[in-house]
Amino acid sequence: MLRRLHEEQPTSFSFTSENKAWADSQIKKYPAGREASAIIPLLWRAQEQEGWLTRPAIEYVADLLGMAYMRALEVATFYFMFHLKPVGNIAHIQVCGTLSCMLCGAEDLISVCKDKIAPNPHQLSEDGKFSWEEVECLGACSNAPMAQIGKDYFEDLTKESIGQIIDNLSAGRVPAPGPQDGRFASEPKNGLTSLMEHESGRTKFNGSVQMAEDLKDTIKRINGTETKLVTPWLKSSDRTTSQVKMKKPKTLKFPKKSVPEDLSKISGLGGKAKIALNSLGIYHVSQISNWETNEIYWVHSNLSGSLSLNKLKSFVEQAKKLQTNKDG
Ligand code: FES
Repeated sequence: MLRRLHEEQPTSFSFTSENKAWADSQIKKYPAGREASAIIPLLWRAQEQEGWLTRPAIEYVADLLGMAYMRALEVATFYFMFHLKPVGNIAHIQVCGTLSCMLCGAEDLISVCKDKIAPNPHQLSEDGKFSWEEVECLGACSNAPMAQIGKDYFEDLTKESIGQIIDNLSAGRVPAPGPQDGRFASEPKNGLTSLMEHESGRTKFNGSVQMAEDLKDTIKRINGTETKLVTPWLKSSDRTTSQVKMKKPKTLKFPKKSVPEDLSKISGLGGKAKIALNSLGIYHVSQISNWETNEIYWVHSNLSGSLSLNKLKSFVEQAKKLQTNKDG
């Protein structure tokens, strides 16, 4: 999986005073000269603060730890727990698609994500609340199929239960993580066969779920206090409080007079890009010339980022000029 930094980045990042104090306390856990060991928790906290991991945040954390930017970048781009582009403002759902989960129904979970969120991974839902992606084994194979949302694992999922989780989150309810089929942890589905003195039942949930419930340190973003997924470098007119607002541009079922225009008169808009735009119902220069910023975001998102925002913006500029020349 190609993991690159998002093409649009804010100009700066710094921890809130609370997060900075927390980061200092984490760094102190390690001996002098080994501060870099704190990189993962610090990057995670930066991600929680912003919603996703920006380049300035990675560099800020590297500076705090006295690391070369490249070293911090290597960590951020290696682990898919770090989101390198904006994600849904309530939840980014990472569905495990490795062997055990795939055998137990991961494809069903993905099809629900496609239906309820967006057809493509990393594409935001229309309301900006959700995004999803398929990831590699998350180490909960005995509770396959499963998905990670924020800090939590949701296990023993079915088509129905993941759909319910998304609906609950969307309605502002935070579901309890852990096994979703009544299992306590990862005991056999037909009950314990050994270690019968297992503490099962001493608490309502297994250890990690109980802790998440007790601390209420689960999907905090749901109430908006934990993370604001703002993209502050965009004009306020281009974003809602929590996410870039996308708008579908005017598309056509068929090209006018049944003949798609030769879009290659726009520099950089070659064969593949033309096919991709046609697949969205965009056949004419005049359509492209009318795109506004939010519509560019929609096209970008619906092409799964295969055409960069800057490239799409340049298409619009060129299309405007071509239209002016044509009309004039
Ligand atoms: S295969 Fe899905 S958690 Fe391991």
